[in-house]
Amino acid sequence: MTSTRVLVACEYSGRVRDAFIAQGFDAVSCDLLPTDVPGPHYEGDVFDIINDGWDLMIAHPPCTYLCSSGLHWNKRVPGRAEQTEEALAFVQSLMQAPIGRIAIENPIGCISSRIRKPEQIIQPWQFGDDASKATCLWLKNLPPLIPTGIVEPRIVNGKKRWGNQTDSGQNKLPPSEDRWKIRSTTFQGVADAFASQWGDWVSAKHILATSAGGRLEPIAKPDGCA
Ligand SMILES: C[S@@+](CC[C@H](N)C(=O)[O-])C[C@H]1O[C@@H](n2cnc3c(N)ncnc32)[C@H](O)[C@@H]1O
Repeated sequence: MTSTRVLVACEYSGRVRDAFIAQGFDAVSCDLLPTDVPGPHYEGDVFDIINDGWDLMIAHPPCTYLCSSGLHWNKRVPGRAEQTEEALAFVQSLMQAPIGRIAIENPIGCISSRIRKPEQIIQPWQFGDDASKATCLWLKNLPPLIPTGIVEPRIVNGKKRWGNQTDSGQNKLPPSEDRWKIRSTTFQGVADAFASQWGDWVSAKHILATSAGGRLEPIAKPDGCA
């Protein structure tokens, strides 16, 4: 195991945590919920452990009050606009955490207009999964991901559709108690790309920084990062 420490914040599934562990990293997931898969997990508030000396944090903050598909409720449901403000403050605090390398993941929504535009928007179908879900990445000291395997869509009336979509473009999942969990779980191909590409990148920089005699410090931003 390398000594590079990875915090996967707001993750109950263990997907990204276990992808990093499979690559030999010291990774811990954290969520208010218990982990679905046994492994290193802190059950509680991410801000309890955010100052514990992590080299990399990948965070998946809740999108309910941030994503474009839900924002129209803010004008109709009393109190909901305030919940959007709280959710934005949570994201802002994650972005400002004292960790040299940070990736925040969320669907398209108001983080882009209220905080800043993402460095990258990815799709699971660019990473080997037969699924469409535009996913924004806000990156600090991390390079944009390189697609690992394109899954071609089927074409329905001239429109592109992937395996998780009906012909009209809706999500195929039927209603169920854990539908939100299934929909929120990070796709395996994306989790593997986080671990292999950012893991390599962080550990290479780690070796450079420590062989230069120093502690791992935040480094210059690579091209394409804010
Ligand atoms: C959209 S889900 C992310 C799921 C993730 N992609 C996965 O595969 O497990 C957001 C998660 O953030 C968690 N969460 C909300 N506030 C939190 C906090 N203060 N500290 C840790 N986790 C938190 C929620 O419990 C929820 O499980």
